[in-house]
Amino acid sequence: MIKKSEYKQRRDRFLKKLKNNSMAIFSSAKTKTRSNDTEYPYRQDSNFYYLTGFKEDNSYLIFIKENQKTKSFLFVKKKEAKDELWHGKRLGRQEAKKRFSFDKVLISKKFKSLKKELKTKFKIDENASHNISKMRLIKSKAEIKLIKKAINITKIAHHRAIRFDKIDKNEYELQAEIEYVFKKNGSYSDAYTSIVASGDNANTLHYIENKQVLVDGDLILIDAGCEYEYYASDITRTIPVNGRFSQAQKELYSIVLDVEKKIIKMIKPNVKRTTLQKNTEILLTKGMIEKGILKGNYKKLIKNNKHKKYYPHGIGHWMGLDVHDDAPYKDKNNKELKLQKGMVLTIEPGIYISKDDKTVPKKFRGIGIRIEDDILVTKNSYKNLSSKIAKSINDIETMCYKYKTNQ
Ligand code: GLY
Ligand code: MN
Ligand code: MN
Repeated sequence: MIKKSEYKQRRDRFLKKLKNNSMAIFSSAKTKTRSNDTEYPYRQDSNFYYLTGFKEDNSYLIFIKENQKTKSFLFVKKKEAKDELWHGKRLGRQEAKKRFSFDKVLISKKFKSLKKELKTKFKIDENASHNISKMRLIKSKAEIKLIKKAINITKIAHHRAIRFDKIDKNEYELQAEIEYVFKKNGSYSDAYTSIVASGDNANTLHYIENKQVLVDGDLILIDAGCEYEYYASDITRTIPVNGRFSQAQKELYSIVLDVEKKIIKMIKPNVKRTTLQKNTEILLTKGMIEKGILKGNYKKLIKNNKHKKYYPHGIGHWMGLDVHDDAPYKDKNNKELKLQKGMVLTIEPGIYISKDDKTVPKKFRGIGIRIEDDILVTKNSYKNLSSKIAKSINDIETMCYKYKTNQ
């Protein structure tokens, strides 16, 4: 739980940065039609939520600063019996006034006219959203607690997937096992659509179809994480359908795992994300040369982007209220930000080899592997928040429901 006082502190920090004689306006997320008259479940806009903890649609925020004095307005939808009968209870103005420390709480109908009136007096501070993004970079203790809770639920889900008897089941059945755990444990939603990609499907980075039968002897890449009280987790594990890694799978898996561990160990304040990226590329490329996947000098291969054929994405991203957290990677001078205590980022190296790639030794074709953990930067080092989720070959094989090999 994030306390009311923390939301207030965030608004105070935000208001400190607001330009004098200017204003900032925020709208809640829009409701979205799924089809005809059915809607997607509502989720508040992350910046709006960050400043308020208020989850209702049709709400607005206005902040003004005049002669260094600030004023904050929250607009909430009016309570109406008919609307509440269909869509549920609303907080309403009176209750919102009690629960949220805003200077003024008004009904949403008043938003447009007040905005119009204020716009005649104040300019809009164009840095307002960016200032919130910057604040979101560093997580508070309460935020880290929620991220940990999300990761803990996700851990149970991945372990259930590892133990599940998978041969001849479908990818969507495995997805159901995972998402059952999310819901069962109070996670309202996944933080992003689960990727359950068996065999060659793992080589499609954003494979979300999840509709193929799981074949004995294949691997499955599962990139799935729940959202808990608006905070994300983002975890990938790659596991064997039959409970045992084949020799070729072991060889590639060991490269990715070794790289992942080494990169995580590099994390501490003042390190740059691009340093992690460069080191990942070097280590993966060297590993792939050893296995005959790439041929030549690693520096030359990297210079010519040859490694990108097999590792085409970044080493990781900020994570928080959004899985790809809306926080900057560069400062206002376009200089890269260095890691700082309180940042949370993913580390996710991978190797992806299409089944049709004739340039690669046959035994590796059709294998896609990614391993992804969520890391908190600490005062002098890091904490792997997802370290309890099985990832060594031995731990995964031991946890698998049964050992049935086709080797
Ligand atoms: N699950 C999306 C990502 O790993 O970035
Ligand atoms: Mn990720
Ligand atoms: Mn992921």
